[in-house]
Amino acid sequence: MNSQFDTDLQIGKSNIDTFRSDVLEGLSSNPKKMFSKYFYDKAGDQIFQQIMKMPDYYLTNCELDIFKNKTQELADIILGNDEPFDLIELGAGDAMKSSYLLKFLVQKNIDFTYMPIDISGNILSVLNEKFSKELPTMDIVTLEGDYFNMLDKATSISKRRKVVLFLGGNIGNMDLEESYNFCRELNQKLNLGDLLLIGFDLKKNPHTILNAYNDTEGITASFNLNLLLRINRELEADFDVTQFQHYQTYDPASGACKSYLVSLEKQDVHIDNHIFSFEKDELIDMEISQKFSKADINKLAESSEFHVLAEITDSKNWFVDSIWQVV
Ligand code: TRP
Repeated sequence: MNSQFDTDLQIGKSNIDTFRSDVLEGLSSNPKKMFSKYFYDKAGDQIFQQIMKMPDYYLTNCELDIFKNKTQELADIILGNDEPFDLIELGAGDAMKSSYLLKFLVQKNIDFTYMPIDISGNILSVLNEKFSKELPTMDIVTLEGDYFNMLDKATSISKRRKVVLFLGGNIGNMDLEESYNFCRELNQKLNLGDLLLIGFDLKKNPHTILNAYNDTEGITASFNLNLLLRINRELEADFDVTQFQHYQTYDPASGACKSYLVSLEKQDVHIDNHIFSFEKDELIDMEISQKFSKADINKLAESSEFHVLAEITDSKNWFVDSIWQVV
């Protein structure tokens, strides 16, 4: 079973119009900012694959360690009372981590449908192809679009118990207020007893964190600059990417790890009939990767009316998959 949905198209607004209005809104804000979900076009997906292979980018390996080596533990908690369920993955990407769990569940003949949600249609077709070969008996419904639109779609397709995966420290790509609102909204969309497995990158030695986002080869820099190239290509803009420079910060007190682009000169950028003026050294706020303590996580769960069922950490204790139940 394969299908793809696009809510923006259904409400008469194309993806490109949404992209344009988000970019215009971001560049009109003070400070200027980008919406990080747009990093992931075809080139962005590829650069992100390279980031995940960087030795200093520990996040993927930590969560992979959990999914590879603690699969049974994860499955035991997810299976609960053995009722059939829909396994929804928000921002599935290449499903590298979740596929260990999926394989395990298929081998045990568990009745579930895998519903990966992603903003990238490209990565979803890769997923469909991969699983039709590797796990041909698994039911899969791919959903292309924003998390909440597609979560609504998922609940309209099936009324089964929901287990939602939100991996990779994606929650950290929201500022704290947004993450509180996000968890509350997620709680509203789920039913009593439904589960949420959510990955958090833990606060740790600040050098370890900064190094993960500040590689000397410039891969993270090109990931950031690629978004400007995408805007040039898709929105016919004229960013001069040689005049923007990546700058990374980590503040261990707040746990905020932030990516910026710095304008190297006073310059104008054109999109349609809009002109955006940059001062020399002006910043574009590109991405936040918030880090959490276990206490931060408990506070977040409590305030969004979830009960923390389990916390599964990697062997280094750098990353946690926290499993929450709607109460
Ligand atoms: N969003 C992911 C993270 O916070 C991926 C990522 C790694 C990233 N480096 C980045 C996103 C730099 C934007 C900029 O870990």
